[in-house]
Amino acid sequence: MTFKVQRMLVTGGAGFIGSNFIAHVLEKYGAVRMVCVDKLGYAGNLENLSGFLKSEALGFEKLDICNEAGMRTVFERERPDTVVHFAAESHVDRSIMSARPFVESNILGTQILLDLCRQFQVQCMLHVSTDEVYGALSPGQAASLETDSLDPTNPYSASKASSDLMVLSYVKTHDFPALVTRCSNNYGPYQFPEKFIPLAITNAIEDKPIPIYGDGLQVRDWIFVRDHCEAIWRLITHGKTGEIYNIGGHNQPTNIEIARQILTMLGKPESLLEHIKDRPAHDRRYNLDDAKLMAETAFKERVSVAEGLRHTVAWYVKNEPWWRRVKSGEYQTYYERQYVSRK
Ligand code: NAD
Ligand code: TYD
Repeated sequence: MTFKVQRMLVTGGAGFIGSNFIAHVLEKYGAVRMVCVDKLGYAGNLENLSGFLKSEALGFEKLDICNEAGMRTVFERERPDTVVHFAAESHVDRSIMSARPFVESNILGTQILLDLCRQFQVQCMLHVSTDEVYGALSPGQAASLETDSLDPTNPYSASKASSDLMVLSYVKTHDFPALVTRCSNNYGPYQFPEKFIPLAITNAIEDKPIPIYGDGLQVRDWIFVRDHCEAIWRLITHGKTGEIYNIGGHNQPTNIEIARQILTMLGKPESLLEHIKDRPAHDRRYNLDDAKLMAETAFKERVSVAEGLRHTVAWYVKNEPWWRRVKSGEYQTYYERQYVSRK
């Protein structure tokens, strides 16, 4: 598919990856009208988009994707040709404590969005999913392929696997023009500090312990967020609808190695590492085979984890007011108080 995107609707664009994606597209590609729909749940932060909200290129709608009537109004007004679907509950530990919001946003929300995309004849819908749907790899097992069976082990990954299957069912039943992407663990600026890397950085800056689940030898395949964003853009413009694409980071340190690198970069002692009880059903290792993405889109540039971590640590050091507002809860009203006169 070689496709000229003109009007793009982005769900979940006030969260971590969605806000980086909006910035990436507007800074690198421009000439695209974007509208972001986000319910501004606990992980949504309008400050993440503050550089763009005053420009004509980006519209913002505070809305739950499960609100079908509200979403219909946005589709009627915006008439998007492309929809990039990030909106989801995204934290495994929260899904273990309470699964229902994951079923609502990730499964029901996706189905509502699919029906609207069909009715408004969207030309390309990209559903952003995760390597976690494949479940854990055992030692020595080959990297996951798009054709592998799904084996989610926690309510978050089960809800994402369900939404993938819902999207793929629309592809088969309705010849619906969707792509499904399955990416590995992202890190970078604007990540909510409940996730491992920003939690480790901000706790280390504050001289607080860094919680390490179990032995800390679990392996994730880390990708710098802007690499993920570029891969999504390439797939929208050059991928094939109806297909699934893995997007890997090609960086696989253990959790404890990541935490040690962060401490070294910040000049903090290893005594801050605190081993705690492991997460239930904690997936030991993920790894993705993304040869299909590279072959079809020529995407190959990836920031090494050492370089990406240096950049990320420097960002959190420089943007301490951002994460302090998040950790204190002030972020939920800060942007409105600063920029109420936007519209
Ligand atoms: P995030 O939690 O930082 O952001 C999610 C955003 O979606 C938030 O702004 C939230 O307010 C919004 N949202 C949630 N439910 C909504 C609803 N019902 N209606 C409207 N908005 C809603 O998550 P993230 O890390 O940016 O992840 C974005 C997507 O990428 C998710 O679909 C996630 O499953 C997927 N993904 C994440 C990673 C990762 O490492 N973070 C890796 C692979 C895939
Ligand atoms: P996380 O950022 O929650 O992403 P995911 O569970 O989706 O991979 O966690 C990344 C890894 O870090 C995972 O193996 C769990 C581990 N972890 C810790 O050891 N301590 C923590 O405080 C957190 C949040 C995660």
